[in-house]
Amino acid sequence: MALFTAPLLLGAVVVAALVWFVGRLRSADAAVPGPILNLFSSLPLKYHEFCGNRTQYIHQLHRRYGSAVRLAPGEVAFASLPALKEIYLSHGSGYDKTSFYHLFRQYGTPTMFSTLDKQTHSQRRRILADRYANSHVLKADALNGIRDRAKTFAIAAGQSPNQIMDVYIALHSYAFDGVTHHLFHPFGSNALEDRMDEAVMREVSFDNSLARRLLEYYFPSGVPAKIADRLGLLPPARSIPRAKQIVLDAVDTTLKSASEGKEGPHAADFTLLSRLQDPALGLTRMQMAAECMDHMAAGIETTGDVLCWLMWQLSLPSCHRIQDRLYAELRDNPDPAKYDSLPYLHAVLKEGLRMFPSIPMSLPRHVPSGGRVIDGTWLPEGTIVSCQPYTMHRFEEDIFPQPDEFSPDRWLGTSLEQDAEMNRRFFAFSNGGRGCLGKHLAMAEMKLVLREVYRQYKTVLADTGGKPADMSMSDQIISSRPKDQTCKLKFIPRRLKDSV
Ligand code: HEM
Repeated sequence: MALFTAPLLLGAVVVAALVWFVGRLRSADAAVPGPILNLFSSLPLKYHEFCGNRTQYIHQLHRRYGSAVRLAPGEVAFASLPALKEIYLSHGSGYDKTSFYHLFRQYGTPTMFSTLDKQTHSQRRRILADRYANSHVLKADALNGIRDRAKTFAIAAGQSPNQIMDVYIALHSYAFDGVTHHLFHPFGSNALEDRMDEAVMREVSFDNSLARRLLEYYFPSGVPAKIADRLGLLPPARSIPRAKQIVLDAVDTTLKSASEGKEGPHAADFTLLSRLQDPALGLTRMQMAAECMDHMAAGIETTGDVLCWLMWQLSLPSCHRIQDRLYAELRDNPDPAKYDSLPYLHAVLKEGLRMFPSIPMSLPRHVPSGGRVIDGTWLPEGTIVSCQPYTMHRFEEDIFPQPDEFSPDRWLGTSLEQDAEMNRRFFAFSNGGRGCLGKHLAMAEMKLVLREVYRQYKTVLADTGGKPADMSMSDQIISSRPKDQTCKLKFIPRRLKDSV
């Protein structure tokens, strides 16, 4: 009997393998250009993800194969405007997110960002949107807290030993203080001046759980993670107890004051928390905390990383003339209220976001039921599709000539048409109904601190004797950060008589 079953089993396996093989060859993604191996296996993509190199890998595939590339069975990436519009803008907020976003639940509770379907998402977004409208961000109570912290940053830079500061640390502290001011002032952090708060920022920014979280996503049973743990192959799990506590304390204190009906300590009227605690919304304590926690993490890493790369870039000898031009604009426009209407400052920041989008990697979405044609390619329902900011900002060289060159001038109006083409492809904050909610806050934070720094100082790379820090991109779960997580700059005070 066993003699018969073994060949039968073998035959069944061979037939199944053949069916699968032919199925892959006849699949819709077989018609998309890309490495042949990726038609049959997701291993090459996963390998690069685990190495923190997904963005660059996909970018190189686009350079080799064109604007549509097959990444893995059932996964295709695009780098064209029609694809971006279809995936992220069709019917307002584009296609639904994939289950990858479940990794962003906080305290085990879903948040707006981690919600997959459009309807639940848009209900939550409607509640929160007014707190992030530009008109709201510019209100005095909200903005003054950020402005004060930008001043603190510039003072701290000037007072650092030998005027050398690790801006990776200081800018993430600044971003932490800025975002918590907006989320739940007066319970916000003071990491720029207080070591205990800086330690909370470090907990979030130095998290090293990429491989573990990817394993959890790909193997929800948890078995591979357990085996890798036993073998000592994985760094510790994401652990941010102090950050979680800061948020819970702010929520609990505010709720307690509200329940006692007296003027106890509570989140200021302009904050996100004051909106979330409105009883009419019926949110639970954990839902409020999860939303605040999510925005806090989003606000620290993204803003801190872009600013760090941008200040590093400006400090390279080749960019000193850009600093001089920026200084001239800031010197000639001393009114602090005008920070948002300075064309060169805007162009420098926009170029920073183009070259160093802190969420540079593809933002995965599912093709809806019935399948869709994306930029001329038909793909069936359930295919994972995406565009990545890093490539959208570089791929079409007629739109972004010399894409690897830092050139703020490209944003200063060669022609209205060219401006419009660049802006349509500008994807640092994503786009559509699921685009970045905090972008006005982020822009205000970044402009205010750049204004404070570059009207007072020239920055240069600090000569610390050792090997220069590696500033190349290290992909995390969705954002990317400078690999060495350190960036020492020297702040040389400008004098009024400085000529430029
Ligand atoms: C330079 C700074 C920032 C960049 C480059 C950035 C980028 C992005 C991107 C690309 C997305 C979409 C991600 C996706 O679809 O997977 C996003 C979403 C989001 N961002 Fe930002 N972000 C920044 C700062 C902030 C700040 C300061 C906050 C809030 C305090 C914030 C809050 C959010 C939220 C809540 C979402 C989710 C929106 C939704 O699901 O509807 N971001 N951000």
